[in-house]
Amino acid sequence: MAAANIRIVLLGPPGAGKGSLAQLFDQRLGWRHLSTGEIFRHEIAKGTALGRRVQRYVANGRLVPDALVVEVMAHRLTASGKGRRGFVLDGFPRTAAQAAGLDAVLTRRGLPLDGAIYVTSPREVLVRRLAGRLVCSRCGANYHVRTMRPKRPGVCDQCRGALTTRKDDQPATIRTRLRVDAQQVKPLLSYYQQQRLLRRLNGIGHIETVYRRSRQLFRRLGWVKSAHDRAQKSR
Ligand code: AP5
Repeated sequence: MAAANIRIVLLGPPGAGKGSLAQLFDQRLGWRHLSTGEIFRHEIAKGTALGRRVQRYVANGRLVPDALVVEVMAHRLTASGKGRRGFVLDGFPRTAAQAAGLDAVLTRRGLPLDGAIYVTSPREVLVRRLAGRLVCSRCGANYHVRTMRPKRPGVCDQCRGALTTRKDDQPATIRTRLRVDAQQVKPLLSYYQQQRLLRRLNGIGHIETVYRRSRQLFRRLGWVKSAHDRAQKSR
């Protein structure tokens, strides 16, 4: 049987494939996908008070203040996914302060993390992925103009929503996001290394290759079992 209640954070630079992988973990392993970037983009599109607070940070590729991100995620972890205790947090935490904030929230709820997966690829791969990304305007699914094409051009395979380009995928903003990430990553990785939760995942290759690699890692950790994988595949 699968270890269904696994709780992980998925770390990595912009373009590492966090969102694409987390989507697969949600669909195939049942781990609820929560993405801070998606939450913020949704709130900005709806013009909510939260959206207005975070808009300028997201548009410029800067980090939203730690306290606000932790507050938003504490609320989401409680509000959504009733009955599904396993989750994968994508794009959160991004600083050591956020990681400490998350720990405090999870400790209060008695839900400790099982692992922190750091996925990455060389910078030129990251830039190529971000520059060619397409996103479903309805469900947020990720595509790429060359490497992850939709079956019908411009249309989401999953919900038939229109595919668009993210505003923060402009070359200058991509550079800013990569620079901001490089400034934060060392203390963040040290934080999880000290807790013996850090696992590294090679993000090079097709998304299905990276997914297979991650599943091998999860099997070694005892988080998923082969029979479960086979059952999922045949669904
Ligand atoms: P967020 O949405 O989290 O953006 P990000 O971290 O910059 O990450 P990306 O979504 O760009 O990359 P990804 O690793 O998910 O890659 P993806 O799977 O999409 O955050 C946006 C903004 O919100 C931030 O800049 C900040 O302002 C704010 N924010 C969010 N969280 C915050 C926090 N915790 N604190 C403060 N501020 C926060 O893949 C990219 C492309 O590559 C896609 O086109 C995909 O199809 C393709 N691809 C992926 N994997 C592969 C593969 N293996 N092979 C080929 N193509 C691939």
